[in-house]
Amino acid sequence: MQNIKNNNIVLIGFMGCGKGTIARKLSKASGIFAVDTDDLIESLANKTIKEIFEKYGEDYFRQLEKSCALWCEKSLTNTIISTGGGFYKQKNLNKIGTIVYLQTSFQDIIDGFKQSKNYLKKLEKRPLFKDEKEAKKLYDSRVMSYKMVADKIVDIRGKKTKDILKEILR
Ligand code: S3P
Repeated sequence: MQNIKNNNIVLIGFMGCGKGTIARKLSKASGIFAVDTDDLIESLANKTIKEIFEKYGEDYFRQLEKSCALWCEKSLTNTIISTGGGFYKQKNLNKIGTIVYLQTSFQDIIDGFKQSKNYLKKLEKRPLFKDEKEAKKLYDSRVMSYKMVADKIVDIRGKKTKDILKEILR
């Protein structure tokens, strides 16, 4: 952990791939605190992601993501950072920390959502996932970019959490 950029780990990947869950488990396993960019944005705006999209639109949300990325670069060290699915586009991403892409298939994401108890709540936070066909298009359009910006790609399909954590920390 000593030689990673800013000593931060930045988890990127598509909506619903489990960035927040992995971040929390990584935090527990390593004793390093974790933050989530969507939570930071919600606190700054004092609004939920759903409200931000509904009241101000996606462009405004992306501006908040930019402010958040600049703040992360300036203010965070020795932190695990889980990000929103579109955060990978931030120009300063590689200055924030070591970027780990949690790679999985669209089908696994859909299956994960459908199996989850709070399915509707999860969809609320994700206005860009309301329409499955549109979400698939978005996934296809982003897959290559996630790989390109990543310092490390961890394929999480069918893996046990403890093995995913080991791979991230290796
Ligand atoms: C988004 C992903 C969401 C949230 C917002 C936009 C995206 O976060 O930031 O709804 O553009 O992919 P999760 O990846 O945690 O779902």
